[in-house]
Amino acid sequence: MAAPIILTRADAARTIAETLLGDSGNRFRHTAGVAERASGLALRLGLDEDLLVAAAWLHDIGYASPLIETGFHPIDGARHLTREGWPAQIAGLVAYHSGARFVADVRGLSTELAEFPDERNLISDVLTYADQTVGPRGDRVEPETRYTEMLHRHGPCSFNAQADPLRRPYLRAIATRVEYLLHQN
Ligand SMILES: [Fe+2]
Repeated sequence: MAAPIILTRADAARTIAETLLGDSGNRFRHTAGVAERASGLALRLGLDEDLLVAAAWLHDIGYASPLIETGFHPIDGARHLTREGWPAQIAGLVAYHSGARFVADVRGLSTELAEFPDERNLISDVLTYADQTVGPRGDRVEPETRYTEMLHRHGPCSFNAQADPLRRPYLRAIATRVEYLLHQN
């Protein structure tokens, strides 16, 4: 008898990302790059690779047009995952990735964001660090370069620009913490 095929969470998440973002060009290349980066960081830091890579594959699915409700992709992605029965932990990682709470605040979406658990731990730091070290085309970048490019792309009046005073130091602190640990390992 053939051995049963066991799908990991990361496998299932990859399939969802391919289905929802596979035709999106750079968005999918970025997502695949973040998943690869998350895998490397998880192995290096002794973290739950399956959890981290699953969250990485799913972190930007809220950009997919069938999922758009609020227009803020971390919330829209997390809502979809909750409807589909994904664990609250993974929905929370997606909802709060890369300082989403600061952007949700200026967008007036803090109540909607609070539907999800705020996983403020090393796993969430590493997911954010992976996202902030992979550029829009899936290339490896420095976090400062990525952040500056993002602000330029969104423009000076954007929600991202409005969130900058609190979000930038938050992301810098995460990069400092993760890079410190990487130097120890
Ligand atoms: Fe991303």
